Amino acid sequence: MTVQAALDELHLLLGDRLSRSKSELDQHATSETYFPPAPPDAVAFPQTTEEVSALMKICARAQCPVVGWGAGTSLEGQAQAFSGGVVVDFRLMNKVLAVSAEDMDVRVQPGLTREALNEELRATGLFFPVDPGANASLGGMAMTRASGTTAVRYGTMRDNVMGLEVVLADGRVIRTGTRARKSSAGYDLTALMVGSEGTLGLVTELTLRLRGQPEAITAAVCAFDAMSGAVETVIETIQMGIPMARIEFVDAAMVSIFNKVNGASLPEGPHLMVEFHGAQAEVRAQAESFGTIAKTHGAVGFDWATRPEDRTRLWDMRHRAHWSTLAHAPGKRALVTDICVPISRLAQAVEDTAADIAKSIVTGPILGHVGDGNFHAILLFDPSAAEELAAVKALSHRMVERALAMGGTATGEHGIGIGKTAYMQAEHGEGWQVMGTLKAALDPAGILNPGKLVPRRDLGL
Ligand code: LAC
Ligand code: ZN
Repeated sequence: MTVQAALDELHLLLGDRLSRSKSELDQHATSETYFPPAPPDAVAFPQTTEEVSALMKICARAQCPVVGWGAGTSLEGQAQAFSGGVVVDFRLMNKVLAVSAEDMDVRVQPGLTREALNEELRATGLFFPVDPGANASLGGMAMTRASGTTAVRYGTMRDNVMGLEVVLADGRVIRTGTRARKSSAGYDLTALMVGSEGTLGLVTELTLRLRGQPEAITAAVCAFDAMSGAVETVIETIQMGIPMARIEFVDAAMVSIFNKVNGASLPEGPHLMVEFHGAQAEVRAQAESFGTIAKTHGAVGFDWATRPEDRTRLWDMRHRAHWSTLAHAPGKRALVTDICVPISRLAQAVEDTAADIAKSIVTGPILGHVGDGNFHAILLFDPSAAEELAAVKALSHRMVERALAMGGTATGEHGIGIGKTAYMQAEHGEGWQVMGTLKAALDPAGILNPGKLVPRRDLGL
């Protein structure tokens, strides 16, 4: 069966929910990255698991590539159809299916965004904590094993996905996990699927763990006279076991962008943005302990945000950091790095990164989820200047090499896509080949998100 015949069959299956219009293909050609556009041959908008399964069976017969699409906000090209084929956009599968307040879990469809979920949960006293910068879809977040500012307290998608419904490459539908809080029943297929970037199956349903909204929340922005003091504060805070809900670093360049683009009025120097969750007395005690540590490392001022609207403004600004950085530099594109290192190596990693950027011909702020040892440099380059693209790639490469040498990872939360496959061998050794073996067992024709994450057998990698 040819790809054209498959598209004709998909049209019979989905009607006008299979689009081949140029504008729809173009809208699904790029994501939040500097990679060149890669329009698919068609975009499908399924409404049910049965439709996804039928779609997959048709594509399997034609060996037509299938690429999942949530909100299109991934940073390593995960949702781009570099080999053509069908992009499966889950925007119509965006419902909350069942909230169980007693068990503190929720069953959702993959196209639901994290903000829409929290909007729906508002009256329940529960919330879903994982918060990448973008208002990403929950299916996409599961597939990239995303995290964000609260992972230091609540974990990443790895810790908050309890189970999945997945359509495999041959159209079979499986359920992974249960609603029990633990299980020792066999291979952990949920864990295998989370972070698999659509290379092993398409997620059609997720069961997620929820948390109780804390009784008290206090946030603060804390200015430091030097970057080293801010980072040392993070390391000591984590090593002391203070249960931070958020502890984010922003360097002086990022603060300057917040002031210019977001109308903030922060002193232009490095800052930590922190938040404490708990009972009133706990929150007060945590804030005091943190304040004491910060002062010994050169904190020069605290700005407390206790009113909900002030906290919302603060974290909105933080979540928009990537777009604010681009808005601040019209005409530039960004390569966003994502290394993550053991906490004891954080100061070295941040200092080496800052020194390396300072020596280069490009600029870019440093910020990150430093409580996890994870930080980003948003490296700006002029897409028409080849030497600038080469410079940001070289910087990113050296950052990854340093992270691996420190026992860290090339990516804490953005994933592999096409952007980081070059580091998989170095990070995983023979383990990367095992990933290829798993992929070949579940998707022998290699139709699911080809070219991403696993070794390219066709290229002998
Ligand atoms: C952030 C994204 C870039 O932390 O991961 O804003
Ligand atoms: Zn991030």
